Amino acid sequence: MQSGMNPWSSNQTVDVDRLFAEFGIEPIGEVVQRLPEVPPFMRRGVVVGHRDYQVVADAIRNRTPFHVLTGFMPSGLPHLGHLMVMKEVVWHVQQGGNGYVAIADREAHAVRGISWEKCREFGREYLKALYALGFRGTTYYQSKNERLKDLAFEASTKVNFSDLAAIYGFGPETSLAHAVSVATQVADILFPQLDAGPAPTVVPVGLDQDPHLRLTRDVAHKFRMFTVEDRGDYISVRSKNAPVEALEAVHRAFPGSKKYSGHVDIMGRPYALVDDTAREIEIAHGGFGFYLPSSTYHIFMPGLQGGKMSSSVPESLFGFYEPDTSVRKKVMAAMTGGRMTLEEQRRLGGEPDRCSVYLLNLFHMLEDDEEFADLRRRCESGEMTCGQCKKETWERVQAFLADLRDKMDAVEHLADEV
Ligand code: TRP
Ligand code: SF4
Repeated sequence: MQSGMNPWSSNQTVDVDRLFAEFGIEPIGEVVQRLPEVPPFMRRGVVVGHRDYQVVADAIRNRTPFHVLTGFMPSGLPHLGHLMVMKEVVWHVQQGGNGYVAIADREAHAVRGISWEKCREFGREYLKALYALGFRGTTYYQSKNERLKDLAFEASTKVNFSDLAAIYGFGPETSLAHAVSVATQVADILFPQLDAGPAPTVVPVGLDQDPHLRLTRDVAHKFRMFTVEDRGDYISVRSKNAPVEALEAVHRAFPGSKKYSGHVDIMGRPYALVDDTAREIEIAHGGFGFYLPSSTYHIFMPGLQGGKMSSSVPESLFGFYEPDTSVRKKVMAAMTGGRMTLEEQRRLGGEPDRCSVYLLNLFHMLEDDEEFADLRRRCESGEMTCGQCKKETWERVQAFLADLRDKMDAVEHLADEV
């Protein structure tokens, strides 16, 4: 398959470097330095890559408008594996982002055959967890959002079957509903800008979702009436498919500009001003004026048992409402980076980088950097046994889940209003 990545496959081992090189995802590196405050998931290497995140980082720092959106497919109950993206969305909302969450019931129904009733039942749990974690903003079920569905239809005018084959490996046996669910996800990603106006939008996702981002950026680009290019001594606004009046309006907006058959050249004006003006003119002439969406990519936490984390492997994860006795058992049975004997552990120390208990703390359970560094030190020095470490980790998990459940119960009404 050309795409090298299939968002619906259960095998999510991805070669990060290859993906970056092949698809133009940027390592997260420098861009975080633009942020006024760096969140744990960026400090600790969970978020590894991005597309165009600089415009979002700048919006956070300059307190200018931006959106944050993600989606959840309600194919089962939410669990440990969904927590990271939830935290990323909540963090961006707390940084001033206009929050959106889609419950992808069309996708769950089309791809996984989940009934609409089940979609609603599961979707409600995702929403409860999000609100409990501090999410504020707009949430919707794809199947109930009429403007979204119209936007999905409009988006599908820009996508053909060979695009779907190239990006997702779709073939003659792929159902039409699957393709419709793809168009719906494209619409999800653009929906905040339709709903609340064009602005940079960040979509925090796992690396497996990048094909959707590539397709959406392509559609957003095709929707644009103009391209605005900085040519050094002048800025060129080129018509892609703008009505003649729209190009004429660009010319009029910048006295002294030169109008040619398919473009207007503008001297002595800042790029941002020309770009904004072109966008406004596009909207005034019936266009969308969408920014290409930005994205961040996180790696996946491996399962507690050491293999992949998947709802089909119960011991790999825990659900938010799973009974304490069961969660405790899973944490205590987790794969560690401990040595064969206690003597060896004392002498050589543990191997945190091969330990799922360590990763559970890194991802979720120990946000304080000093305490986290101390855990690593106690592990590597052999000062702490894995038994002790698991016990401490379980206590953190228990406290976290108790608090989360209380909050989930308290926000039920918010999930029911959706
Ligand atoms: N396809 C995503 C998944 O499988 C869910 C999803 C739907 C989504 N719409 C989205 C993710 C928009 C990010 C943005 O989990
Ligand atoms: Fe993992 Fe903790 Fe054992 Fe270190 S001490 S290997 S972090 S369980």
